[in-house]
Amino acid sequence: MLRSIIGSITTLAVVGVGGFLIWKYALNEPTNMGEAKEGLQNLGQQAGEQWDEMDLGNFTDVLDGLEGLDFGDLFNDDPKLGDNTTYLWRSDYIQPSNGGLQLKLLNALDDTWQTEFAQAVSDWKESDALVLTTEQVEVDHTCTRIDGVMVVCNANFGDTGWVGINENSMLDGVIQSSVAKMNEYYLRNADYDHRRFTMCHEIGHGFGLPHTDENPYNSNLGNCLDYTDDPESNVLPGDVNMNKLRSMYLSRRLRTVEEDGTVVERTELLLR
Ligand SMILES: *[C@@H]1O[C@H](CO)[C@@H](O)[C@H](O)[C@H]1NC(C)=O
Ligand SMILES: *[C@@H]1O[C@H](CO)[C@@H](O)[C@H](O)[C@H]1NC(C)=O
Ligand SMILES: [Zn+2]
Repeated sequence: MLRSIIGSITTLAVVGVGGFLIWKYALNEPTNMGEAKEGLQNLGQQAGEQWDEMDLGNFTDVLDGLEGLDFGDLFNDDPKLGDNTTYLWRSDYIQPSNGGLQLKLLNALDDTWQTEFAQAVSDWKESDALVLTTEQVEVDHTCTRIDGVMVVCNANFGDTGWVGINENSMLDGVIQSSVAKMNEYYLRNADYDHRRFTMCHEIGHGFGLPHTDENPYNSNLGNCLDYTDDPESNVLPGDVNMNKLRSMYLSRRLRTVEEDGTVVERTELLLR
């Protein structure tokens, strides 16, 4: 018993890379996707130490806005970043015949984010595969993860190269907790569309959704999991996200083993 518990604990890993929202003005711009991924992983490892020493709630030193930043064509050559895998929340949170994923979002954001948060939650609630509840808690600029919920928070993480990040903590391949972080360094004085897009995007990752496209410079697909340099038409979840959520949380997987040993996995999409 003890052995299996330890086994489980050691598989706890934070999946951050898939949740990074990268913008062209990253420090030490990578020249290819391999470097980009490596850089992000390093960033994730160092982040804990760096941020401990920073005053995450100090917004003195932030950008005036995103205007004048040169977006360029960093991701044009290879739009692939991340592995396009969907991750599911733990099974006791999934009720396919009762509305799908049952998840609480803890709102640890300060006052400046309440409109964007309420908007994004209401937009995601349009999904018939999500049953979301929210609870406003004390503002937490340290963005501490809490088991079994999605924490949504804001802080000045500095000139990291990302405006938002989602960290899903995984145990044995399923999500145990999620933290969606808004980086005030870029977003404090950004316009509403950029803030709303980032909120929608990071919360979307928190359900386990992957990107729909990772080239920011092609035309927008009309959903907030599509990288973009102009978020206006990408601020909402799209049909593609909603369909993905349905297949993730409204379906039931049945495994049977046939006489010759063949394992058959049947996925039923439950319709109400
Ligand atoms: C906030 O950061 C600025 C520099 O970015 C610094 O000068 C100031 O002392 C800090 N304020 C507090 C309260 O830490
Ligand atoms: C992820 O997979 C879907 C379906 O297989 C595909 O349509 C989509 O383009 C992929 N997205 C990325 C970012 O590779
Ligand atoms: Zn992302």
